[in-house]
Amino acid sequence: MSKIKKALEKAKAQGAASDVLENRADQPVRKKEGPEITKPIYSRTKVIDVPAHVFMNNKIFSIEESHPVADQFKLLRTRIFRLTRKTGQNAIQISGFGPDEGKSTVALNLAVSIARDARQTTLLVDLDFRKPSIHKMLGLGNDTPGLKQYFENRLKLEDILICPGIEKLTVLPAGGVIPDSTEVMGSPRMEALVMELKLRYPDRYIIFDTPGLNVCPDPLVFSEYVDGVILVARSDHTSTKNIKAAVDLLPREKLLGTVLNDSRWEEPMAYSEFY
Ligand SMILES: Nc1ncnc2c1ncn2[C@@H]1O[C@H](COP(=O)(O)OP(=O)(O)OP(=O)(O)O)[C@@H](O)[C@H]1O
Ligand SMILES: [Mg+2]
Repeated sequence: MSKIKKALEKAKAQGAASDVLENRADQPVRKKEGPEITKPIYSRTKVIDVPAHVFMNNKIFSIEESHPVADQFKLLRTRIFRLTRKTGQNAIQISGFGPDEGKSTVALNLAVSIARDARQTTLLVDLDFRKPSIHKMLGLGNDTPGLKQYFENRLKLEDILICPGIEKLTVLPAGGVIPDSTEVMGSPRMEALVMELKLRYPDRYIIFDTPGLNVCPDPLVFSEYVDGVILVARSDHTSTKNIKAAVDLLPREKLLGTVLNDSRWEEPMAYSEFY
């Protein structure tokens, strides 16, 4: 049994995490009262053809049709589809327990994998305003505009969306470090943005890359707005104590499942556990 499973079972026994997933399919789609939505125009999405070697150098193996890691992400996406499709849940947050666990690597691999499914379009949003990295993984510079400029009212949503050359995948970069990121994460404007992204294309999955739950309050604050959270742990890196602390923090109904990254002994890269 893996460390994650052990910690989750322990937390479950203590009432922290329970049989979340079995219950989820019966839950009605959450309709929240909230700020008014302004509909953006997506026709200006910038196309930046990211070369395959950039993806591969950053361990985004999902771009390959037949790669053992791509297979793991196909499995992960299938589990997510199964859990969320019936109820129209499409906003998935990727978080973890601490730093450097591979959250962003998993988020981008998953987004590519979902986009490569014949039926799905995907939007990947970089919501790590402390250490934005999705743009780097796409080979783009730190001057790449994104949500920071959107929240500063300097750019509109349609000006910051990027299509990285993978069909049906759109990326919303962070745009830089935001010092008061927790306030931005919990702001009515952020809530309105998430609702807008969710409702405009209900058949599209939105993957939000966020920091670890034990790193800063941002991911917990943001989890309020999403349908489910996937926690990433890294083999030989994430401690059981950290896993337990993070699981205790997260509202039990939000936990979709966990991914054990870098699990060399069992699977090549991202072994996922869903409950
Ligand atoms: N399975 C893996 N095998 C080898 N290297 C990996 C693996 N997963 C991630 N990495 C590498 O580990 C580093 C950290 O990964 P990543 O940026 O995805 O982690 P993170 O959890 O998002 O970090 P942060 O806490 O800074 O947001 C990167 O250099 C990435 O390429
Ligand atoms: Mg990251």
